[in-house]
Amino acid sequence: MKSAFRGVAVLILLAASIPGWAAAPNHPWLNSTLSPDERASLVLRAMTQEEKLALVFDYFGSLKPDVSYRPPPGARMGSAGYVPGIPRLGIPPQWITDASLGVATQRESADAYRERTALPSGLATAATWNPLLARRGGAMIAAEARASGFNVLLGPGVDLVREPRGGRDFEYAGEDPLLAGTIAAAQIQGIQSQHVIAALKHFALNDQETGRNVLSADIDPAQARESDLLAFELAVEQGEPGTVMCAYNRLNGVYSCQDRWLLQRVLEDDWGFAGYVMSDWGATHGTAVAALAGLDQESGWILDREPYFGVALRQAVAAGTVPLKRLDEMVRRILRSMFAVGLVAHPIGDDPAPIDFAADGQVSEADEAQGIVLLKNAGAILPLPRTMTRLLIIGGHADRGVISGGGSSTVFPAGGNVVPGLGPKGFPGPVVYLPSSPLAGVMGQSPMTQIRYLPGDDVDQAVRQARWADHVIVFATQWAAESQDVSLTLPDDQDALISAVSAANAHTVVVLETGGPVLMPWLGKAAAVVEAWYPGSRGGSAIARVLFGAVDPSGRLPVTFPESLAQLPHPALPGDDVPQGKPFDIDYREGAAAGYKWYQKQGLTPLFPFGYGLSYTRFRYGNLSARVANGRLVVSFEVTNVGMRAGAAVPQVYVGPKSGGWEAPRRLAGWSKVSLAPGGSAALSLTVDPRVLSMFDAARSSWRIASGTYGVWLGESSADDRLSTEVRLSAWSHSARWTAGGAHDEEASGLPSYCHVVSAAGRRAEPAWTDRSGSRAARSSMPSLRGRVTFRPEALWRTRGRPRRRLRAAPGVAKGRRRAGPPPARCRCGRRA
Ligand code: BGC
Repeated sequence: MKSAFRGVAVLILLAASIPGWAAAPNHPWLNSTLSPDERASLVLRAMTQEEKLALVFDYFGSLKPDVSYRPPPGARMGSAGYVPGIPRLGIPPQWITDASLGVATQRESADAYRERTALPSGLATAATWNPLLARRGGAMIAAEARASGFNVLLGPGVDLVREPRGGRDFEYAGEDPLLAGTIAAAQIQGIQSQHVIAALKHFALNDQETGRNVLSADIDPAQARESDLLAFELAVEQGEPGTVMCAYNRLNGVYSCQDRWLLQRVLEDDWGFAGYVMSDWGATHGTAVAALAGLDQESGWILDREPYFGVALRQAVAAGTVPLKRLDEMVRRILRSMFAVGLVAHPIGDDPAPIDFAADGQVSEADEAQGIVLLKNAGAILPLPRTMTRLLIIGGHADRGVISGGGSSTVFPAGGNVVPGLGPKGFPGPVVYLPSSPLAGVMGQSPMTQIRYLPGDDVDQAVRQARWADHVIVFATQWAAESQDVSLTLPDDQDALISAVSAANAHTVVVLETGGPVLMPWLGKAAAVVEAWYPGSRGGSAIARVLFGAVDPSGRLPVTFPESLAQLPHPALPGDDVPQGKPFDIDYREGAAAGYKWYQKQGLTPLFPFGYGLSYTRFRYGNLSARVANGRLVVSFEVTNVGMRAGAAVPQVYVGPKSGGWEAPRRLAGWSKVSLAPGGSAALSLTVDPRVLSMFDAARSSWRIASGTYGVWLGESSADDRLSTEVRLSAWSHSARWTAGGAHDEEASGLPSYCHVVSAAGRRAEPAWTDRSGSRAARSSMPSLRGRVTFRPEALWRTRGRPRRRLRAAPGVAKGRRRAGPPPARCRCGRRA
């Protein structure tokens, strides 16, 4: 250890002794008309070996008093990482921070928390089924990261939710690879639009926290390609993250950060990933073994056992066990991402920039408002009537704020933690409550109602008061955090509280603030149930707006809610009975049948299926057809709002071979999200990515669609069969390198799925799933879309059917097409729409 420290000290001194920060103007790699590859190659040639070594070694960015560690002077307070820059070459430092829900602070070493805007949890964003909101959220947190002095943001995470008890499920994007990959790609695009590198993590199959440093996720490699890896593949292809973070766990026995198959064969060769691989903090286990497998940067030194890419790498290069060529390649990849994302052209200032918390809060609130899922609404008890006289609110610290998840993704909010003192003092605590009180939100929605609040710790008192009230809202919370998994049972006897209160008042609404699914033994008694996830910086307001109908609930579950533990592929949490630190294997024998696929394969009926969520209005679907056009499966249908209120439909298309042969009867093949006024309708078509219709053939390393008849189902969840049709598909096969248009093709990096509303004349207009501000933000923050999406408000107003002012009929809308409602907006979908 001692000599290791000496090696680090040399590197620190080296970085500190380089004179003159300002770059010489004649450095050819600063010419932004050259490609990132050209620029990286040019600067590489000008670098000394010590400079190269400095670039592949990231220091933990904060103090670690227990081992007397101090980061180099240039590190930012409370940050996750720091790689010194190379001033003489104009290469800035990499200032690295967590995470996907906002700018975090490494709390143990920080003398003051960095207070920033928190997005709702990743599952909430996935529940929006709205990539444009994911993109806006990514752009917002990355802008705050820049303002805070960071140019690398450690997110998003896209590990599939295979294990509903996973302590980090809340950070991820659900159990389906198409949905998760699409949402993560949009987050990456948003983050990188701010010239901040996004780190896609944790590669791969870091699907639970118990034993994460020692477990081996064992899975058939082909089935991994069709599930967890497909989520990463889509996110890499469509998001083009600057870096991918390899995970703590082993995959089929090999540590992810030294897994040549994973890092080279899959990520670099098959997917054409052009960025660099960074390790998770403490996930590097060797020098040559990791460098030769494809790890480009060791992260968070002081957390690994040795500074493997410090002095040990210098020695390995000198000895030839790591060829200089490989070191050059590692450095080239890092530089390439720095140029490609704009870290060099858009340097970070030294002083924190002001943050517009009001505007950023709106981004967070819009996300949560579309991510809230209405699970039960007996007797249409919701939306709550503003005319009610007496309302009782119980529990969840709803008088003060909303809960958030723990670990490296914790964001300390502007205004501070409103319920201090809960949870572990050290990592992954504390429990942080964000100052957005649902009680205040409810008072804003219903100012004339007499409202009482109880903390919920006294069940008898709660029952007595419940009899007084016209309506009761019970807030139930569960804290989840990195490094530990959770139970599916709500903690602190909240089930008993909900049961008793629901029995006392038939108008009881339960609002869940949980990291993921929970069991609901009281489901039959409560009148309504709302899943609000971890609601983010403005969650209280978003929840209240949904409860009172100011917003239609348009969230749909990105994860299955099981009925019981017995339904899970692994009823006992793997590794739970293994002594801490002892390696163990998880046999993912369910293979690609993660989430709803498992339930369908086993014929199980969950509590709530993937894709499920109610609205305050009703939608009718019709004219379902499936055809093959230009070699792609195209599914078309119409959706009409047949209720009395405006709302957003999330029609989902599932596909499966009639003769079986897949891991499960069907897979999600596409979806749309479309806002419709009462009577409004939209005609939509989705182009299906052929990989979603394929099996992965490991022997030939290719995707293969078997010829045959396929069922196509259209509905409002994975278990909804309301419309179906069949289509014949011919055999199709393509190498594992196949991408939808080429990984670096502008078209391919645009909106991944799946619908642009177009006018009847066929002109491209508003993406179907966004609101107006979302669309504008998307346009300005997403260079690859410029010139491809034309913002035409009249098309949007037609889909909403609620013009703000009189409009002339949009060009191309034939009068004859008008019906009782507004004319249908035409949609064309798919990347190449
Ligand atoms: C987590 C990563 C995080 C890193 C830096 C690790 O413990 O697994 O997700 O980005 O720490 O804080």
